Amino acid sequence: MGISVGLVGLGAFGSAFAPLFKSHPLVDRIALCDMEPDRLEKWANRESFQDKLDRNAVFDDFDDICGADLDALVVITQPFFHAAQAAQAMESGKHVYSAVPIVSLPDGDEILYWCDKLIETSRRTGHYYMLGETTYYRPQAMYCRRRAAEGAFGRFVYAEGEYFHDVDHGLREVKSRREGSKSGKRWVELAKEKYSGVVSGPMHYPTHSTSGPVCVMKAHAKKVSAFAYYSSTGEPWHGIDAANETALFEMSNGAHVRICEYREIGHRSREIFRVYGNQGSFENDTWQDKYDLTDLSEGEMRDALPEEVTDAFSVEHYGGVDVATLSDQEREDFLGGHGGSHAYLVHEFVTAVAEERQPAINIWEAVRYMVMGVMAHKSALKGGELLEVPDFGDAPR
Ligand SMILES: NC(=O)c1ccc[n+]([C@@H]2O[C@H](COP(=O)([O-])OP(=O)(O)OC[C@H]3O[C@@H](n4cnc5c(N)ncnc54)[C@H](O)[C@@H]3O)[C@@H](O)[C@H]2O)c1
Repeated sequence: MGISVGLVGLGAFGSAFAPLFKSHPLVDRIALCDMEPDRLEKWANRESFQDKLDRNAVFDDFDDICGADLDALVVITQPFFHAAQAAQAMESGKHVYSAVPIVSLPDGDEILYWCDKLIETSRRTGHYYMLGETTYYRPQAMYCRRRAAEGAFGRFVYAEGEYFHDVDHGLREVKSRREGSKSGKRWVELAKEKYSGVVSGPMHYPTHSTSGPVCVMKAHAKKVSAFAYYSSTGEPWHGIDAANETALFEMSNGAHVRICEYREIGHRSREIFRVYGNQGSFENDTWQDKYDLTDLSEGEMRDALPEEVTDAFSVEHYGGVDVATLSDQEREDFLGGHGGSHAYLVHEFVTAVAEERQPAINIWEAVRYMVMGVMAHKSALKGGELLEVPDFGDAPR
C-alpha cells in the first residue's frame, strides 16, 4: 500500500525534491506547504501534480499541515528551523524527513539539546526520522559501504572528509534568500537578540564532511581536537564566526579522521571523503590495495534503484517521454544533484515508511554526524583542547 507525504519548504532545494517525492510509485497522495504564496502556487498548479494533489491539501502554515491526515512530512526549510519542525511533525503523528543538518544554530549546547530531544521523540512516538544527507548517497559512499561490508578495507586506519564552499561561490545569495523570506526575516529578528555575542563556526553545518567516514566505517567519534581560522577580510559569515575549522578525531574503531569545514578558500567547492584500511583504500574514485589500482565510474559505484522507480522519476523529469529512448546520460540526469543522491534519498525514505522500518540515515546515525561538528567547534574555541565526543547510541533494531 502507498503512503501520503506532505512537502514543507518549496524554496530552492525543496523544489529539487518535490517532483521526485510526487512521482515515487509508493506515494499515493501529496500535500504542499510554504509560507511564500508564489512558491506554493508554482507546485500546486503544476499539471503533473494534479493526480496526487487535492486542492484542500495546500497549506501556508506549518501547524496546519501537521494537523492534516498524512503519513509523513518532508521538511526542507532553512537550517535553523529543522529540529523544532521535525519534533513537531513526529509529535503530530508523522514520520519525518529533514534536510541537513539536524539543525544549525549559533549555540552548540542548543544543538546538543535538539539531538537528544529528537532521539527521545522518535523513540517515544515510534515515528521515524531521516536526515537527507546527500553525501550518504553519492556513488562513492555507496561503493565504499559495499566494500566495507565485504571486509575489503581490512582494519580501518584513517579517513578524511571536507566541505569546501567559499562564501563568494554562491553562498552570499543563498544566505540572503534564506533570510529574506517571511520565515527568514522572523528568524533574523529573533536570532539578533538570542545569539548576541555567541561565536559560531562552519562546524555547525558539518554533515557533508563527517557523514562519509562515519557511514563507511560504522564508527563514531570519541575525541576531538580542532582549530579555527578567522576570515582574513575580518568579514563575519554568520554573526561573528570562524570562517574555517579543521578537526582531528579519534574514532571508536581506533582509526583517525580529519574533517575540514571551510567557507574561505580559493577552490570551486568540494564535498567528498577518502577512507583507508590496512588491506584496501578508496580515494578520488579509485579503489586500491597494496598491489593494484582500479578506476571506477559513477555507474559502477552506484547501487541499483528498482526499475519502476527510475522509470517514474524519469517520466516526471522528462515530461512523459518514452524512457527506453533516453541515452545513458539522460537516464542519469533525473537522479538529481549532489552526485545523483536526491533520487536515492527519496526512495529510501518512502520505502522505509512504507515498510515500517528505520531509514538508513535515522536519527541515531544523523546525530553522530552532527555531534562531531558541535564538539569540534567547542574544541576550536578552546584553542584545540582535546574534548570527549558524546555518543547517543545506535538505532533500536
Ligand atoms: N546538499 C544538501 O544536502 C543541501 C543543499 C542545499 C540545501 N540544503 C538544505 O535545504 C534546506 C533549504 O534550503 P533552501 O536553499 O531551499 O532554502 P529556501 O529559503 O530557499 O527555502 C526554504 C523554504 O521553507 C519555507 N518555510 C520556512 N519555514 C516555514 C514554515 N514554518 N511553514 C512553511 N514554509 C516554511 C520558506 O518559506 C522557504 O520557501 C536548508 O536547510 C539547507 O541546509 C541541503
